[in-house]
Amino acid sequence: MKEKLFIFDTTLRDGEQSPGAGMNTAEKVRIATQLEKLGVDVIEAGFPAASAGDFEAVAAVAKKVTKADITALARANRPDIDRAWKAVCKAARPRIHTFLATSDIHMKYKLNMERNEVLKSAVDAVKYACSFTENVEFSAEDGSRSDPDFLCEIFSAVIDAGAKIVNLPDTVGYAIPKEFGRLVRYVKEHTSNIDKAILSVHCHNDLGLATANTIAAIHAGARQVEVTINGIGERAGNTSLEEVVMIIKTRPSDMPVSTNIRTKRIYSVSRLVSMISGIIVQPNKAVVGANAFAHEAGIHQDGMLKNPMTYEIMRPETIGLSANKLIMGKHSGKHALKKHLMAMGYDLSDAEIKLLFAKFKDLADKKKIVLDDDLEALVNEVVLRTSDTYSLEYLNVSAGTTVLPTASVKLMIEGREVFDTGSGNGPIDAVYNAIAKITGTESKLERFSISALTGGTDAQGEVTVRLSEAGLISIGKGSDPDIITASAYAYVNGLNRLEYLKQNPPRSMRGL
Ligand code: KIV
Ligand code: ZN
Repeated sequence: MKEKLFIFDTTLRDGEQSPGAGMNTAEKVRIATQLEKLGVDVIEAGFPAASAGDFEAVAAVAKKVTKADITALARANRPDIDRAWKAVCKAARPRIHTFLATSDIHMKYKLNMERNEVLKSAVDAVKYACSFTENVEFSAEDGSRSDPDFLCEIFSAVIDAGAKIVNLPDTVGYAIPKEFGRLVRYVKEHTSNIDKAILSVHCHNDLGLATANTIAAIHAGARQVEVTINGIGERAGNTSLEEVVMIIKTRPSDMPVSTNIRTKRIYSVSRLVSMISGIIVQPNKAVVGANAFAHEAGIHQDGMLKNPMTYEIMRPETIGLSANKLIMGKHSGKHALKKHLMAMGYDLSDAEIKLLFAKFKDLADKKKIVLDDDLEALVNEVVLRTSDTYSLEYLNVSAGTTVLPTASVKLMIEGREVFDTGSGNGPIDAVYNAIAKITGTESKLERFSISALTGGTDAQGEVTVRLSEAGLISIGKGSDPDIITASAYAYVNGLNRLEYLKQNPPRSMRGL
């Protein structure tokens, strides 16, 4: 019998620390609902002391999710722990996750504290958190660069104080697998009371080793792993959930653990997180990248036809990627659409389906066949936008080889219709100039990219923009069969996200 590996998902907390990935409460609840269906054991919903927005999102997730533990992050001090508890207390299974740095470099330069002070603060914090719940986790920040004996001493003390999970993070992504595995084994062997707690790891991907380090840690005895969907997270990101889970599933005889993850849901959750966070999954990303199951070389294709296992170590169906994507057309009814979206992992309300159905009919008129990727883009466009300041009402463009490109644009701004025109180097430039005039934005367009969502000349264009303003970064997405309209949607979406960030600055801007 294999031991259980607990999957702790921190997409909504560490994942949200990816530049530009700010998510609002409704978006976080939507992701949390899908994470629960995916079968994760713990959802880290945010850092409530960081802002009112974080607090509200954690509380909303805590109310909605019933099967997974919901945890909130707190520094090792009473006000943070009070705030974390207040946010998660309504959860069916609340957890408090408190942390303090234990490496010499962090203690000296960041905390300005001696080892004995750090030890005392950690123990006090855990005891205080345990006054609210038995489900308390302690993380030794920068654990991989800490003195192993001090790590064991502090873990032993916090376990005595009541911590049920002790977490060893590779905060700066510096570790290498052999050494990290050795450290985990050392902690297992030299922490006197480790049998009273679950040993967890949390790796960052600065050297591209987050997954390898996590796997080494599992072999050495770690039984909780902290991961994110698509590996998003601070800097180069965190260990990716789908990689760890699929390694365990694909190489069962080499792994001492099993998970409760329903792997068929991996692909749809990956898409949802990419849509909501605006962070594109690189095409060659393991497991969920667009090319992960694409075989280009003729010799591979020939082998695949004879037996898929010649070149394929996992079946695309295992992660929910169906080879025969269901095609919806203009004759498909509302019920079929709802059922199909359910199968794709989108559990939408009747009101949302109604809204979506009208747009689906418009698209089916233009495109004849609507594929899963089109539907996902529609869901993103129509349903996932919840707190928009601006919305695109009308767009008209004139361009060609002999005319100056000009655009007329009408936006709704908080219930008011505002109209203006713009001209530019090309039609998209003209549209963007008109939108910039209407909104008065001071943001800078840092990046613009466009790709076709599916094959064929009638494919929808998907546009992604990256905007920056006063240190804030937002990513906007838009899709439409008309690439100029898609570009306008993406810009407006990016501006809406900037507005949201102005109200809810990311943790990094508040020094957290
Ligand atoms: O990377 C890190 O050390 C963290 C801790 C707060 C667990 O995210
Ligand atoms: Zn982290």
